Amino acid sequence: MAEEAELAAVILAAGKGTRMKSDLPKVLHPALEQPLVGWTVQSAISAQASRIVAVVGYGREQVSSYLSGAFGAQVETVVQAEQRGTGHAVQCALPPLADFEGVVVILYGDCPLIPGELIAELTTLAREGDEPVAMVTGRLAEPTGYGRILRNAAGQVVAIREHRDCTEIERLITEVNPGIYAVRSSFLREALNELEANNSQGELYLTDIIARAAHAGGVASLPADMDDMLGVNDRADLALSEARLRRRVNRDLMRKGVTLRDPESTWVSAHSQVETGAILEPGVHLRGQCKVATGARIDVGCVLTDTEVHEGAYLRPYTVSAESVVGQDARVGPFAHLRPQTVLGPECRIGNFVETKKTTLGKGSKANHLAYLGDGILGEGVNVGAGTIFCNYDGVQKHVTTLEDGVFIGSDSQLVAPVTIGEGAYVGSGSTITKDVPAGALAIARPRQKNLEGYATRLRERLAREKLERTKNDA
Ligand code: UD1
Ligand code: CA
Repeated sequence: MAEEAELAAVILAAGKGTRMKSDLPKVLHPALEQPLVGWTVQSAISAQASRIVAVVGYGREQVSSYLSGAFGAQVETVVQAEQRGTGHAVQCALPPLADFEGVVVILYGDCPLIPGELIAELTTLAREGDEPVAMVTGRLAEPTGYGRILRNAAGQVVAIREHRDCTEIERLITEVNPGIYAVRSSFLREALNELEANNSQGELYLTDIIARAAHAGGVASLPADMDDMLGVNDRADLALSEARLRRRVNRDLMRKGVTLRDPESTWVSAHSQVETGAILEPGVHLRGQCKVATGARIDVGCVLTDTEVHEGAYLRPYTVSAESVVGQDARVGPFAHLRPQTVLGPECRIGNFVETKKTTLGKGSKANHLAYLGDGILGEGVNVGAGTIFCNYDGVQKHVTTLEDGVFIGSDSQLVAPVTIGEGAYVGSGSTITKDVPAGALAIARPRQKNLEGYATRLRERLAREKLERTKNDA
């Protein structure tokens, strides 16, 4: 194939989105944790756009800083200070594209569902056909609000008429303009120069370039599913587009070999990764940037944020984890809480009602029941008994508890940090440990047990006697 013409994408993202009832610019509202405009940028990238120009207006600092943070120099921004119509918005994007030769695709920043393949297909039409413009068209039983596609007797697109500018007859047309176009750059510059605001809103309508193209080689049209064109205007649209994106993300995961036992209830953020051969059970949420490796199984109701789960690990039901790492073949939960900076080595065990925070466990270490491990460093093969608490906070500062390899902590012990238990040492149940324990030692820090023979029997007899006397006196 001959060298392909370059593709540039212009993304209109200047609107406030009044109906969102929010100070956050509409295009920054997230779906699966990625702002709407981020989805549009991703589609443009997947269609091989070499230049991406976003037109920002309302909340421009916020929108620009999101875009530069997420996409760096890949996305340029231009400011449309005042919203004077879609045609004016695209005019604003022309200066940075002054030297650009090729096809310019125009997209809305509030339509997150547009597939990259559709953009690529549209681009091919504009690149290879005789027409200087290719546009997407759709059918809607209820087309109110949309621009209508006007065709001539031969079926060729001749113009787009905005709903409010339509005649009664034109309003019956159900073929609508979703607002996605691929335009040859030379034609675009010329056509935008000629726009006039002679319409009911006194705006510069981008759609007017269609009538012009009809006289200059024609308009190619590409029918598409309107479900993918959904524009977000309010929070109900936002929820709907998020649900569709979730289905798409989940479908892609399943196609790649991830098991989703109930995809409708599985929620995977835009920036999480799940490898082939992992299993996600119903109600699992992966938030932020999670990574789940092959062979890992995340059971019912686990909510993970920025968590890495290594090969073969098993998170039992209702484990909650943030900013943590679960090592290979580790077992966690049910009902475990891994708080930030928990790092579980391979084959570790964290059982029910165990909370960890900023704590590292070496290979094979265990805390199987009811414990708090905060600011801890645990070596390999350590066993922490039920009810153990790392007393890491003195009211002002946090301190570290260190358990060296092979340490055994008896149930219901408190380790008052800073404290170190040396390699292989034992701590007797119910101890409150305030001093370091040397390697190999047994530490017991609890009162000695005393048995008072017959005491309980005598006590019970005395109490019964006293009760009897009281009832006599009352009578
Ligand atoms: C536009 C189309 C209409 C189409 C509809 C599909 C025009 C004149 N009409 O109408 O044919 O059916 O989209 O949704 O183009 N924007 C800016 N700057 C502006 C104006 C708009 O950035 O000055 C952005 C908006 O934020 C929005 C998008 O462009 O994301 C579309 O603008 P909107 O005003 O919603 O266009 P419609 O009137 O719905
Ligand atoms: Ca709109």
